[in-house]
Amino acid sequence: MNVKHLVDITDYSIDNWNEILKLAENIRKNPEDYSELLKNKIIGNLFFEPSTRTMLSFESAFIKLGGSTIGINDPKFSSISKGEDITDMIKVVSQYADIIVMRHSIEGVCKFCSEYSDVPLINGGDGRHLHPTQTFTDLFTIFCEKGRLNDLTVGFCGDLKNGRTVHSLVKGLSCYKNNKLIFISTESLKIPDYIKTFMKSKNVEFEEITSMSSYLKKLDILYMTRIQKERFVSEKEYLLQKDIYILNKDKLNLAKEDLKIMHPLPRIDEITRDVDDYKGAIYFKQAKYGVFVRMAIIIKLMDENFANKNFYNKNVIIANYSPLKCKNPVCITNNHSFCGNKTKISNGNKICYFCDNILK
Ligand code: NCD
Repeated sequence: MNVKHLVDITDYSIDNWNEILKLAENIRKNPEDYSELLKNKIIGNLFFEPSTRTMLSFESAFIKLGGSTIGINDPKFSSISKGEDITDMIKVVSQYADIIVMRHSIEGVCKFCSEYSDVPLINGGDGRHLHPTQTFTDLFTIFCEKGRLNDLTVGFCGDLKNGRTVHSLVKGLSCYKNNKLIFISTESLKIPDYIKTFMKSKNVEFEEITSMSSYLKKLDILYMTRIQKERFVSEKEYLLQKDIYILNKDKLNLAKEDLKIMHPLPRIDEITRDVDDYKGAIYFKQAKYGVFVRMAIIIKLMDENFANKNFYNKNVIIANYSPLKCKNPVCITNNHSFCGNKTKISNGNKICYFCDNILK
């Protein structure tokens, strides 16, 4: 059975991504054409971490396609609290639902669980690691608002270490031509090495800086992110990083005329409310685009003809020597009794098969 999961955008080729974006565009223009497509189908939403947009936009997307939703958004009310293994839970839910969306704080858990699912499993965010459906939302937003996905200077600001939406979007933008990426963060919240390695493998020009104002006039897009409080070891560490980058209307006097400001949301205080009516502030529109994109992702993953030629998962190289132990404490390999270590080679590095951590 060729079940298509979406764990990382690089599970699929750029042609496949463009197919998803094109379908999202058609859905946006003619939503009624799709309103009965998934009649009698069910989506299973399994959210083990808080979510508003991802969970509700998937529900909204599925209902707009004519289907119904079931789900869990608090593991306390599932048999996980009785000690059931998460892989058994996935196997069972895949008997009830036709497609599953899963969010969890453990990195690599969606990759691991996808191996136990009889239906497509979508990563709705795994810890600090990846968030592929937000990336398709972001790419679609950029395409709709800028008319292109190449020749863009994009600034990312905030918590670039822990922000999974940034990690996935950087991978996405690195695969389109001539994009320049600027990373604005403190020293301790810089983007992870494995993302830098990915950009280098695609010859992407990028810079890491600490001041937001200095680059504003060169940016086509500024992607703001919140400081991810829940990923810090202590409140004290978080408070040291909080409020360092705040975008307000005054700062925007320095910006390019047609700068677009994006944010995956939730916003805490990194964008002041006076920015909301700025002409380039598109973060709420971005949330709306997310429904069309998720409708397109669902349709494609449930279509047996999608991506048959370019199904990247088949091409992953697993090392044929003893796998190295992953040192990421929140990797699934360190948080599950029988998920053993697996190593893959990517861009010349040995990396964890599940969380992409570079292994040394
Ligand atoms: C993000 C997430 O959960 O990673 N939100 C979202 O899905 N739109 C961003 C965040 O929590 O900061």
